[in-house]
Amino acid sequence: MCPPEHFAVEYAINPWMDTSAPVDTELALKQWQLLRETLVRLGHAVHVLPPEPGLPDMVYAANGAFSVDGVVYGARFRYPQRAAEATAHRAFYEAARSWRFVEPAEINEGEGDFAYLPAAYGGLILAGYGFRTAPAAHAEAQEALGRPAISLRLVDPRFYHLDVALAALDDGNIVYYPGAFSDASQAILRQLFPSAVIADEEDALAFGLNLVSDGRNVVLNSAASGLAAKLRAAGYAPVPVELSELKKGGGSVKCCIAELRP
Ligand code: ARG
Repeated sequence: MCPPEHFAVEYAINPWMDTSAPVDTELALKQWQLLRETLVRLGHAVHVLPPEPGLPDMVYAANGAFSVDGVVYGARFRYPQRAAEATAHRAFYEAARSWRFVEPAEINEGEGDFAYLPAAYGGLILAGYGFRTAPAAHAEAQEALGRPAISLRLVDPRFYHLDVALAALDDGNIVYYPGAFSDASQAILRQLFPSAVIADEEDALAFGLNLVSDGRNVVLNSAASGLAAKLRAAGYAPVPVELSELKKGGGSVKCCIAELRP
């Protein structure tokens, strides 16, 4: 995670960003700290990446890389405003030495557009494209990580990254909002995940799908109360957190967290 010390909306690269709307950086920081404390309270280890001035979106740490079984497929951002973030993430992994880092040639925004399900079909990568990540990056990630990558086409600009439309709930199951995907991609998701939890547009617009789950506890945006009820009914324990300030940049819980799969 990376604290939103320099968080601002200085440019607009997704439909949620409005450069004329005021942003309360202090509040963003408070809400971020609560998210971090929530993860620690649930028993998870959190590493902190030092924030850098001039990189207002660096709080969305999920975009910096995608790791599977000790291999890290690096990010290459679509927009120049965020390009330097990839270097900071690379340095984090290289400092730990235990990772094998693969520098990407193709544009991809890390876990923003990649999800991993270790227990689905022996280990499956779900990969989004349409707005940010280039489809060629899916093949590159598949080669780097040695797991099949299923390409899913995103069609609604409000859901510009995979991680605002779909999330892993545990090692083998997902939750998603079908309307964010092309008809063919919806059919593929139905085929691969017949027991998925299905979210509606309201859940997605509340950024409810931008969640992080440890298989039981599902940390999600508190505005997504409808989705929380569905998850409870499906046997999970929803843990709501308030992240209203970070929504102004077009992100929520998952965007703030780069999951480490050593
Ligand atoms: N303002 C950021 C961008 O548009 C938000 C990134 C959200 N992160 C995510 N993992 N969806 O790039």
